[in-house]
Amino acid sequence: EKVFLNGTIYSSNDAHISVFDRGFLFGDGIYEVMVQLGNGIFYKKAHLDRLQENLDKINIPYDVSHLEAQINPLLDSYNLGDKTCLIYMQVTRGVAPRKHAYPKDVPATVMMYALPFSLPHINTKNMQVILQPDFRWHRCDIKSISLLGNIMTNEAAMTQNADEAVLVRDGIITEGSHTNIFFIKDEKVYTHPANEHILDGITRKIVLELCRDLEITVMEKAIPADKISSMDEAFLTGTTTQIASISKLGEHVFHTSGAIGPITLKLQEAFAKLKG
Ligand code: PDD
Repeated sequence: EKVFLNGTIYSSNDAHISVFDRGFLFGDGIYEVMVQLGNGIFYKKAHLDRLQENLDKINIPYDVSHLEAQINPLLDSYNLGDKTCLIYMQVTRGVAPRKHAYPKDVPATVMMYALPFSLPHINTKNMQVILQPDFRWHRCDIKSISLLGNIMTNEAAMTQNADEAVLVRDGIITEGSHTNIFFIKDEKVYTHPANEHILDGITRKIVLELCRDLEITVMEKAIPADKISSMDEAFLTGTTTQIASISKLGEHVFHTSGAIGPITLKLQEAFAKLKG
């Protein structure tokens, strides 16, 4: 296994990070996940732009174009060629004595690896989803490596044999532990607005565009948890999830027989076409 770290590609056993790295001490860093599919890295520019925007939001001085230039050498080192894989990237504020204030003139710690990974043409899974209180902070728009709220709520889903946890803040559905959520009611598509309470997913943006192309009305309007039972369909989106139908959300069952709602299916088919 190879890992890119601070300019060099190492065997993962030889890649070392200081215990004083601010990513380790404070969770002070940003990450990104993207996938290489048959025809290249899916929405690469959108992912790299989001990484740069997030680094800028927390003032980590790093130019993502340096990392971009290392993607192909890294993939070549795995002999992955153009095989499908998942690419994980992480940039932290670097190594400095433990003080809360941002250190001056410290180079960022930059890490990236890839894993063989394949995605189905269409995600035919029908997700069982639990509801959990969204006790995360108020800057969920930042793709922070500090993911305690996400992993705790996801773990609750796993222990209840569910596929995902969807979060509720002040009675409003925000997003999943690692996905965005959409609802359909009377042929209109609803999703939480891209504000500080959700991550503005790349897949979310793609789905919004697909809705416009398919002339499906979309409303970036949050759905209250007590309105779930009046919705016709619901689905999750994410880089590794693609578009996944929800069969059960909290106590509400959308489909009993594993059926997929018509608008969800239409969007899944349109999404699959984008992948070439
Ligand atoms: N998760 N919301 C949260 C909280 C996420 O962590 C993610 C992605 C998404 C979907 O974003 P996108 O469509 O850009 O993948 C929404 C990644 C995949 C992860 O943490 O592994």
